Amino acid sequence: MLIELPRHTEIFGSVKIHELQRVLKLDSGGSENPRACDIAFEDIKEVLKELAIIVPIKNENIHLLEGVLRAIPFDCTVIVVSNSTRGPQDIYKMEHDVITNVHNLTQQEMLAIHQKDPELGFSFHDVGYDYILDHDRLVRDGKAEGMIIGMLLAKALGKKFIGFADADNYIPGSVREYVMDYAAGFCMSESPYTMVRLHWRYKPKVVEDRLYFKKWGRVSETTNKYLNLLLSTTTGFETRVVITGNAGEHALTVKLADIMSYSTGYSIEPYHFVYLFDEFGLKAEKIVYRDAISEGIEIFQIETLNPHIHEEKGEEHIKNMLLGSLSTIYNSKLCNDYVRHKVLEELVDILEVYKPPDTFVMPPIGDINADEFFKQVSTYSDTFLWLKPGMIESRVDEEAYLRRFKAEAVK
Ligand code: GDD
Repeated sequence: MLIELPRHTEIFGSVKIHELQRVLKLDSGGSENPRACDIAFEDIKEVLKELAIIVPIKNENIHLLEGVLRAIPFDCTVIVVSNSTRGPQDIYKMEHDVITNVHNLTQQEMLAIHQKDPELGFSFHDVGYDYILDHDRLVRDGKAEGMIIGMLLAKALGKKFIGFADADNYIPGSVREYVMDYAAGFCMSESPYTMVRLHWRYKPKVVEDRLYFKKWGRVSETTNKYLNLLLSTTTGFETRVVITGNAGEHALTVKLADIMSYSTGYSIEPYHFVYLFDEFGLKAEKIVYRDAISEGIEIFQIETLNPHIHEEKGEEHIKNMLLGSLSTIYNSKLCNDYVRHKVLEELVDILEVYKPPDTFVMPPIGDINADEFFKQVSTYSDTFLWLKPGMIESRVDEEAYLRRFKAEAVK
């Protein structure tokens, strides 16, 4: 893969944020180029073998899930964490069947679990991580909560890297690219504490019966603006380095995942920045993670070649996401009166909110005994599924599926 080198890297305490890097060519020829980094396919493949891709899902179109699963490169382990509706019409059962079918045909390692499985709640309680539980000792709703479940399973499997792919992506080819981009980021990194965040080249929308290739989503534009303002007002130098404030598509090393705190729901991605700025930035108050501070934390921001087309969830959803994002910034330790005032203006104008809610933060997962967690979940949980290469799970009508697979290939 040929990726532009970052033109500039903003250094903020121990955090290094690389400026946007464009993917120039997905499959490159190994040529020398002073402006770009050529990453050999073999190197990417080595990373893929140590990478788990977590797919959080809640009531998405099953065809989209199937496309996403088929697109994730074979060498990765796939972990689906579902919060879909159960009951008479059991959507998790449908997801389970699709996962099983794709596994049976491809032999890729795949895991799945349902977020509301009571055994999952007990397991979190037993390993001392009640922060993720509600009053009934079930895991709370929320994308971030699903991501944490996936991260612990990945860690127990001995993975070195963890990436995320939303389940509602219409273009399987773009999902494949995202995963390759993550691996490329890890190939370029020099620190064991690395995060790779994707910026979509375009996010197309239908405008008057035509596709309009929009560059920015509304939430991202606003989140980036205020994350940059946090940095600018702290250093005294204006910057626009952050362009991936809401990057749902991101990946990180397990070493970094272990020392991050996580906010809930959809605010998890902007909070990554806020947490890193607060704890490892210029004004960090105490040194908790000495090794991370000496190695430095690297953030890559890669612009994909493919556009991003996904399910639209409506105005209310966008507003909630924006509220979550801006609240994390408002509650940052770095937020001074000026930034607070600006964020409030934004909240009042767009959302008619006069005081942002506190950010609920879940502490790092590094101290959790992931092996014990995995053992408990895999032994007792009814919804847990672990399909290893070489296994054929027989609960699905594989022949019918194979016929459909072949028919599609002919088309
Ligand atoms: N396990 C689990 N639990 N998954 C969930 C939950 C939950 O409670 N809620 C949502 N998901 C899944 C969705 O099914 C989807 O696969 C993924 O999380 C993202 O949720 P969407 O509702 O589709 O979010 P979005 O597309 O509006 O926003 C995405 O992109 C933003 C950047 O533009 C998300 O990834 C955001 O986090 C991101 O900031």
